[in-house]
Amino acid sequence: MSGVVYVSGSFKPESQASVNVLDHGLLYGDGVFEGIRAYGGRVFKLERHIDRLFQSAKALRLPLTQTQEELGEIVLETCRRNAIVDGYIRLVITRGRGDLGLDPRSCGTPEVIVIARPQIALYKESSVGVTVVTSSFRRPAPDTVSPSIKSLNYINNVLARIEANDRGADEALLLDANGFVAEASADNVFIVTDKGLATPPTATNLSGITRETVIELAGELGVACQERVFNLFEVWTARELFICGTGAEVVPVVSVDGRTIGHGAIGPVTRQIVQAYARTVRATGTPIGVTVGQ
Ligand SMILES: Cc1ncc(COP(=O)(O)O)c(C=O)c1O
Repeated sequence: MSGVVYVSGSFKPESQASVNVLDHGLLYGDGVFEGIRAYGGRVFKLERHIDRLFQSAKALRLPLTQTQEELGEIVLETCRRNAIVDGYIRLVITRGRGDLGLDPRSCGTPEVIVIARPQIALYKESSVGVTVVTSSFRRPAPDTVSPSIKSLNYINNVLARIEANDRGADEALLLDANGFVAEASADNVFIVTDKGLATPPTATNLSGITRETVIELAGELGVACQERVFNLFEVWTARELFICGTGAEVVPVVSVDGRTIGHGAIGPVTRQIVQAYARTVRATGTPIGVTVGQ
């Protein structure tokens, strides 16, 4: 499907939307991004996504030329121009065009790109449960490149995903530098034990907005939730396991490295969270508004 993309300050047909070959986003993965979703004509957690984008940009010392409100409006206008009711939005900001050397001082204005698609399907088996393998790649230690920065450099995640593909699994589970569970290649991870939910602290993974929402929902549902480290033993012996992210939503995991988790099917707590999440994403959000002047 061919949509309209916001790039270099204007809207262009996707086939004509391009960035300069000297853009440091392309040459060095020097930039930041957000994956955002719309449900029923509203963008879910738009402000929170833009806030996280600004935090990532600040960490990369990438000065943004738009305000948070202006960027939010560009996202909404991209949705309008693509007649998005339910869809997935990719907001990307690169360092911009510079010299071949990596010094960002050669770069001019940051490039803002917004792509909006009417649908996204990440995992074929997302409602019944996905299979996961533990990756041999570790998430970067917090004192290397912080996993909190949602940068354009996703090679660690891509390598883990290739490894999962090679091993016939739907997704990869990455450990941190100390061997504790960190996250999946593009999702956060939760286990369900007899004490409720547990998810790793965000020093070793992205501060996922879906993760935050799940923690809030667990509170509302009266399900205890701890942010604490855990290792593979607790994954193997968990009653239930699920991964979550904006694109994936909340997805049960039925096996890890060929070991069946729980009963090998979606468990009762995961089902509750899946249902609560589905209700929440449709009950809140920034209205996209009507399409004007097309
Ligand atoms: C590495 C990683 N972890 C977790 C997530 C989930 O974050 P969110 O719920 O904000 O989409 C993502 C999303 O892209 C991700 O790339």
